Amino acid sequence: MTRGGLILAVESSCDETGIAIVEDGRRIHSNVVASQVAMHAAAGGIVPEVAARAHLRWIVPVLDEAWAAAGVTWADVSAVAVTNGPGLAGSLLVGINFAKTLAYVHAKPLIPVNHLEGHLYAAWLVDEAREVPEPLFPLVALIVSGGHTFLIEMRDHLQYRLLGETVDDAAGEAFDKVGRLLGLPYPGGPEIMRAAAGATRHDVAFPRAWLGDSFDFSFSGLKTAARRTIAAETGGQGTSAGETPLADDRVAELAYGFQESVVDVLVAKTIRAARVAGARSVVLGGGVAANRVLRDRLAAAAQNAGLPLVVPRPGLCTDNGAMIAAAGARRMEAGVRAGLDLDAKPSLPLARR
Ligand code: KG4
Ligand code: ZN
Repeated sequence: MTRGGLILAVESSCDETGIAIVEDGRRIHSNVVASQVAMHAAAGGIVPEVAARAHLRWIVPVLDEAWAAAGVTWADVSAVAVTNGPGLAGSLLVGINFAKTLAYVHAKPLIPVNHLEGHLYAAWLVDEAREVPEPLFPLVALIVSGGHTFLIEMRDHLQYRLLGETVDDAAGEAFDKVGRLLGLPYPGGPEIMRAAAGATRHDVAFPRAWLGDSFDFSFSGLKTAARRTIAAETGGQGTSAGETPLADDRVAELAYGFQESVVDVLVAKTIRAARVAGARSVVLGGGVAANRVLRDRLAAAAQNAGLPLVVPRPGLCTDNGAMIAAAGARRMEAGVRAGLDLDAKPSLPLARR
């Protein structure tokens, strides 16, 4: 069965410029990502204007590399897919205008893709390294990124129901903010994971926001608790990215305590949601899904619940073009098309309750 043929996809919603060429929403021919992380690290976070300029600077070289790696021609491509939201307006516009131009010049259909839908469909990409089973419907997906944290139920392709979302910070945002408080470089997520792995004491207990029976999440209380503890231990001295008066051991212990709080809540709510929804599989995606502890803990809990867990490899969890091509293929099949008036939608929603 064909699922959209060969799709060329463009992703530029945040701070990675990604272009990929993917067959049938599954098989990756090329997936090139130019990351701005090192550039934004100096500022301790993303500067939207700088991000948009960097997309402009890199998008053509990224396309050239994607073609070179794929070894196909425009004649083989059936459509151009592009992220049209949510994300930073200026960054989205660079990718959208680029994709429109390609679609127009090569007379290909243009497929708009929701960035979050891309994170979900990363679960359908085939891994070169190991055989990944296709997710089974109905499924429950936990999408955790720098800007979003939500639980989604899918009973079929392209059908999304929102089960829960964050009421304040996204999970990745909490990692980044607490990383900064701990004096770790930006982005905090991978740094906290690395620091926590070196902790020798595991007795720091931060709060967990269960919010009753709700499938919503809250991380601001945890962030405040971490801020208070760090302030008390540093005598209120300010900590900035890359600098802290805390000893390395202590940073590791606090990072461990924070990560445990986040992972505990994410795993417990996802498994409970899967049970309530009668899910046949669980999907994990988004940048925070690159976290080894979250992956392992959710895998163990899903196995206990008798549910297969599908998690893309870390490189496909963080922003990339292949995930947009995967979702684009399904949308192509469903007849979704955009005109050349396609615009950026910085707060494009994915699903309703
Ligand atoms: O999905 P993504 O690449 O971009 C957005 O759409 O936001 O996610 C980026 C987020 C950042 O907050 C980053 O700190 C977090 O994912 N992240 C991690 C890890 N790797 C990336 N968080 C925890 N552990 C990691 N290993
Ligand atoms: Zn993302």
